[in-house]
Amino acid sequence: MSGKYEDKIQKLLSEMTLEEKAGQLRQCGPSLVGAFEVSFEELLDMMFDGRISQEEFNRLMGTAKQDFREEDLKAGRMGSYNGIGDAATVNRLQKIAVEETRLGIPLLFGYDVIHGFRTVTPIPLAESCAWEPELWEKTARVAAKEATAAGVHMTFAPMVDVSKDARWGRVSEGAGEDVLLNSLYGAAKVRGFQGEDLSAEDSMAACVKHFAAYGAAEAGRDYNRVDMSLQRLWEEYLPSYKACVEAGARAVMPAFNDINGVPCSVNKWLLRDVLRGQWGFDGMTVSDANAIAECVNHGIAADRAEAAQMALEAGMDMDMTSEAYIENVVQLVKKGAVKEEVLDQAVADILRVKFELGLFDHPYKTSEEREKDAMLRPEYRAVAREAAVKSAVLLKNEKVLPLKKDAKIAVFGELAAAREEMTGAWAIGADGNDCVSLTDGLDAAGVSYIYEAGIKDGAVDEAAVGKTAGEAEILLCVLGEHKEQSGEAASRADITLDPSQQALFDLLVKTGKPVVVILFNGRPLAIPQIAEKAAAVLEAWHPGVEAGNALADLLYGKENPGGKLTVTFPFASGQCPMYYAHINTGRPGGKSKFTSKYLDTPLEPVYPFGYGLSYTQFAYSGEKIVRNEDSFTVSVKVKNVGERAGDEVVQCYVRDPAAKRARPVKLLKDFLKVHLEAGQEREVAFEVPFRSLGYYDWDMNYVVEEGEYVFYLGGSSAECLSIPAVL
Ligand code: BGC
Repeated sequence: MSGKYEDKIQKLLSEMTLEEKAGQLRQCGPSLVGAFEVSFEELLDMMFDGRISQEEFNRLMGTAKQDFREEDLKAGRMGSYNGIGDAATVNRLQKIAVEETRLGIPLLFGYDVIHGFRTVTPIPLAESCAWEPELWEKTARVAAKEATAAGVHMTFAPMVDVSKDARWGRVSEGAGEDVLLNSLYGAAKVRGFQGEDLSAEDSMAACVKHFAAYGAAEAGRDYNRVDMSLQRLWEEYLPSYKACVEAGARAVMPAFNDINGVPCSVNKWLLRDVLRGQWGFDGMTVSDANAIAECVNHGIAADRAEAAQMALEAGMDMDMTSEAYIENVVQLVKKGAVKEEVLDQAVADILRVKFELGLFDHPYKTSEEREKDAMLRPEYRAVAREAAVKSAVLLKNEKVLPLKKDAKIAVFGELAAAREEMTGAWAIGADGNDCVSLTDGLDAAGVSYIYEAGIKDGAVDEAAVGKTAGEAEILLCVLGEHKEQSGEAASRADITLDPSQQALFDLLVKTGKPVVVILFNGRPLAIPQIAEKAAAVLEAWHPGVEAGNALADLLYGKENPGGKLTVTFPFASGQCPMYYAHINTGRPGGKSKFTSKYLDTPLEPVYPFGYGLSYTQFAYSGEKIVRNEDSFTVSVKVKNVGERAGDEVVQCYVRDPAAKRARPVKLLKDFLKVHLEAGQEREVAFEVPFRSLGYYDWDMNYVVEEGEYVFYLGGSSAECLSIPAVL
């Protein structure tokens, strides 16, 4: 290693005791003590199963004392904390590290800043539907400005786990089912979080997760096994992490899951050969929470000591919360089970990132004053509003949207007035009261409406709904998921709407009045009846603090929806995983019974990948292809044939119809979002290098085959112009 800080790192290592080295590998969250009569885990369960409300839970948490293990910190037995997001605590603990430990090595503070810190922006899945790398970078920059002001040095983001299974709750945290989108999304987030210079006060290190293929958990059940061919791993899952490493991410979090039987936490091939060897990564790795110790449960380590040994040897630098390292590493080195140079390398990786963050020169990168006026600035709210507008996807519109300002509308559904629900999963720095609900947004826009939640104690209040619906011309029905229904540990076997929500919708449809459905959710839902019977459907996801304002802008036509789906909406839960880039079987689904299909669902999804409408329409024509020396240039003309300006995401897919390994029926190669005035036409060209058309053959060689290809150009994966090419 010949980097800028290597001499300093070596000098420090030469002064450190084994105990101090083990301390650097340790990351803890504050543990909670006192105040509860039951354990913290039981308390959490009580909230999740409804025995206590979220308010009661928060009240109890507020009375609990946090234990930061300060004695351990003073003794040099702590390298990092997780989950502390306030400047006063961060600086107080940092002062102990710098002034009271023998070597004064500063602490590293990590935090889950997934989609905004205090200014919560749309969930990542939503934001990916904007198909706009500049926006992804911009929202990450806002997150970094706020989080660093609160003392955060590293965010456990971006999550770039390609996920093709809507049942998996964490589909909400990434950029959907496509590998190219996840790669571009991840790289943009890394740039946004880290800024130009990692040592700047408003830069934080990005920790890419969950390496690797966590999104491929079998049957969409969280933490489940992952078993797949290496070809598929390299083609469909690894490139997004690689893109983040290439964008300069300084940390990587190995995933909870195993790959082909070896948990990522102890997977030497993944962490040493691929990540460090082939990709040249020289940042730090940090385990997922408790994941090292969990290798015993996986059935690959006999006990915690063996798990620690395997993880360290595999290249896992930091132990997040399991304590398997701090309990065992010194002994493992003393008895020769782990070489000291292996330990030194892990410590060096962590120290390197601390140096790069500038922590040795400026251990206190924030102050309470800076923190005070760093949050929720109007310009940050403006970015959140822009992102929420661009994330929304118009799925259906029978000329009912945009609404006229004087339309007599009634709004139904408790999510319409639920501020906190707008944050979605993983918004731990948020205050739900900051959020603008849909009804708040309508109030702010100055439109008149009547509101009826419509569901009481789990059942539709038919009388109240009927009465309110009778007084309006257009019925807005707000449906979807609560924020706890997606995210970590929130897989669902059934991704249809809650029965009471479905009943509310059915009752509204019965009135014969147009029903406009607004969806707040963290994953694709199986909603064929909504797609069939609603007059319009607007997918808003969990849009963040500016939810209601963004929606009012969209509903009343101040803004024109331009988002496109980055995940497929299946017809039924049992079709999962359902995704556009599948390969054909020998019997592709068709009319005949003996083809690859289900007896009880249509062949096609309800809404395909890449799909999304606008208040204007776009027409495609004039597809062309030019063969250059080492690339194809494919182009198409796109015209706004409607009556107002709008954004269109022009998509370019490719297929290799006769390859030595079956290739996807369509694979996204490039895209461009264009803004077109009414009547305006533009030619959009994509350059596709020959090199990018390859795949891994049976023997794991990357090959680009000569022969025929087909390019597809259009505004949805399901509706494209095709154009043949020969290589
Ligand atoms: C999650 C990670 C997260 C970590 C730290 C884990 O349970 O899987 O994504 O970064 O907790 O909070």
